[in-house]
Amino acid sequence: MTTAGLEDVVATTSRICDLDGELGKLTYYGVDIHDLAQHSSFEETAYLLWHGKLPTQAQLAETESALHSSRALPGRLIDLMHLLPPSMSPMNVLRTVISALVAFDSDPSDTSAPANERRAIRLTAVLPTIVMAWNRIREGLAPVEPLDNGSHAANILYQLTGKLPDEYTAHALDIALILHADHELNASTFAARVTAGTKADMYASVVSALSALSGPLHGGANEQVIRMLHKMNDISKVEPYLEDALARKERIMGFGHRVYRTEDPRATHLRAMSKELGERTGDSRWYEMSQVTEAYIKEHKHLNANVDFYSASVYYMMGIPIDLDTPIFASSRIAGWTAHILEQYANNRLIRPRAEYVGQKVTEYTPIDERG
Ligand code: SDX
Repeated sequence: MTTAGLEDVVATTSRICDLDGELGKLTYYGVDIHDLAQHSSFEETAYLLWHGKLPTQAQLAETESALHSSRALPGRLIDLMHLLPPSMSPMNVLRTVISALVAFDSDPSDTSAPANERRAIRLTAVLPTIVMAWNRIREGLAPVEPLDNGSHAANILYQLTGKLPDEYTAHALDIALILHADHELNASTFAARVTAGTKADMYASVVSALSALSGPLHGGANEQVIRMLHKMNDISKVEPYLEDALARKERIMGFGHRVYRTEDPRATHLRAMSKELGERTGDSRWYEMSQVTEAYIKEHKHLNANVDFYSASVYYMMGIPIDLDTPIFASSRIAGWTAHILEQYANNRLIRPRAEYVGQKVTEYTPIDERG
């Protein structure tokens, strides 16, 4: 009998990403995440996810140029955002605008692989523009035009502040984007593949993924982590807070994982980045409270930190508003989602599992005037 969460169910084959939950290993097309975090860039990693091999200099330059020229958002979608209530969550705005983006596709009927590869670049490039435009519009400010050069990470930070980021912060965000780019058949990627399996367009498949990612048990966890750290607010309050939360059977966001039974290899890098950012900003409080939290949950729940735990303090110390944490996750995972969507289109197969019926036996139809 399959459990409701499809634990350990192998739903498809894929060449894109391999996870070893016992050993805590993660590779994209066989390239280890530690090597990518140390040597690669988000753009190079996106190319690897889309094409199955690391790019040559020329291929990387071509991809970077295509990303640069795809960042701008049509003016009518900026107008659309001005019609939305400022209180609307950034993830809900994101799925709304991505949904409308199809109206600006040059040829929606072209479902060829090259056309969909162009859409993968377009969606990857424009997603952060939507997030950062909303961040300004909801405050009554004009959006910052995207850079027509520079990295995906630098452009995100530039559109957030209107100023070019310092080299360390741009590089740190680039590493975080590499770490978040793909993760096998997680809930949002599975949602994207199920939608693409019906031959729905790439925009629809990405909207499915965005909707799944927004949940607090998945991508929405990072925002909850930093909110928890704010509630604790002081290192002396960490253990009493956690003791009370666990006593109330609360889930501690940022801990546990459906696949990893050991340290999430991505958390290793994010923990180090949180420590370094604390030292650089002169405010190590968020890192230190995270460390006490991690030790306490390890001891009392035997759970490891996942990718969302330390990314929370990393993004906060980068000056990223708390409710943009999940959109930043999406600004990276869009590369993985689109890679899986391309693979699902190539599979050319509807995803339609079965459900084991556990309901009541066949019953006679009772006319309404005879029902109790
Ligand atoms: C991401 O799948 C992916 O790859 C996702 C992701 C990616 O890159 O795409 O890695 C990104 O989504 C990371 C996970 C972010 N979510 C959170 O941090 C939310 C908090 N974590 C949990 O809700 C939970 O750990 C899950 C949802 C992540 C995994 O849960 P499972 O596999 O369904 O495990 P479970 O709910 O069956 O829990 C097993 C036991 C339970 O104890 P009992 O009720 O059986 O006594 O562990 C406990 C749970 O109560 N538990 C936790 C806990 N996580 C599990 N208890 C307290 N706090 C937690 N965080």
